[in-house]
Amino acid sequence: MSILLTGAAGFIGFHVAKALLDRGERVVGIDNLNDYYDVRLKEARLDLLRADPGFAFAKLDVADRDGILALVEGHRDLRSIIHLAAQAGVRYSLENPYAYVDANVMGTLVMFEAARRIERLTGITYASSSSVYGANRQQPFSVEDRVAAFQGTAESLPGDAADRLVDVVMNLENHVVSDIAEIVLPRSA
Ligand SMILES: NC(=O)c1ccc[n+]([C@@H]2O[C@H](COP(=O)([O-])OP(=O)(O)OC[C@H]3O[C@@H](n4cnc5c(N)ncnc54)[C@H](O)[C@@H]3O)[C@@H](O)[C@H]2O)c1
Repeated sequence: MSILLTGAAGFIGFHVAKALLDRGERVVGIDNLNDYYDVRLKEARLDLLRADPGFAFAKLDVADRDGILALVEGHRDLRSIIHLAAQAGVRYSLENPYAYVDANVMGTLVMFEAARRIERLTGITYASSSSVYGANRQQPFSVEDRVAAFQGTAESLPGDAADRLVDVVMNLENHVVSDIAEIVLPRSA
């Protein structure tokens, strides 16, 4: 059984991959190794992961639907997806706005479509943005917090609809972060 991990050369992806490999899981990592920050750092992380025989890597863009679907077809033992590849940052969106739609919108759609091709899929986990903690005043942040990033907006909208929408989004975020925390933290913690 293998886990498909996108963004494997990234900050969080590397640590998630390492934690999974350390507990004996098999990981198929993908990353496009873009130059948003120093590629040598991403290569160095991959070198560490490649030392584990349970790790396989493909340099691939998550928006490359044919490439992703071919990868999934070629790994019949995949059972879950952890989708962490993303274009992060705010200032860079002025410089390269297309990168955000390609990676975060199209890339996420491609991964969800890929998930439909995985027989006996047990789950798909993906990361949202730390920005959802924006309006939360309680420090330090916790995955148990009732975060309210859009507090002002929700209060200014009529009826219950905005609150419910925010609740859905925030509960999803908490759920996803909990899942990643469970992966990275020792099981006994
Ligand atoms: N770091 C944080 O504090 C934090 C907090 C909350 C949420 N997140 C989210 O977690 C995820 C991972 O964050 P990170 O800090 O590890 O970022 P990161 O930039 O270090 O890692 C992202 C990785 O995805 C890869 N990537 C980007 N676009 C790609 C594409 N189109 N196809 C394939 N690979 C691609 C990059 O090369 C990089 O290695 C992001 O969605 C981020 O928004 C991060």
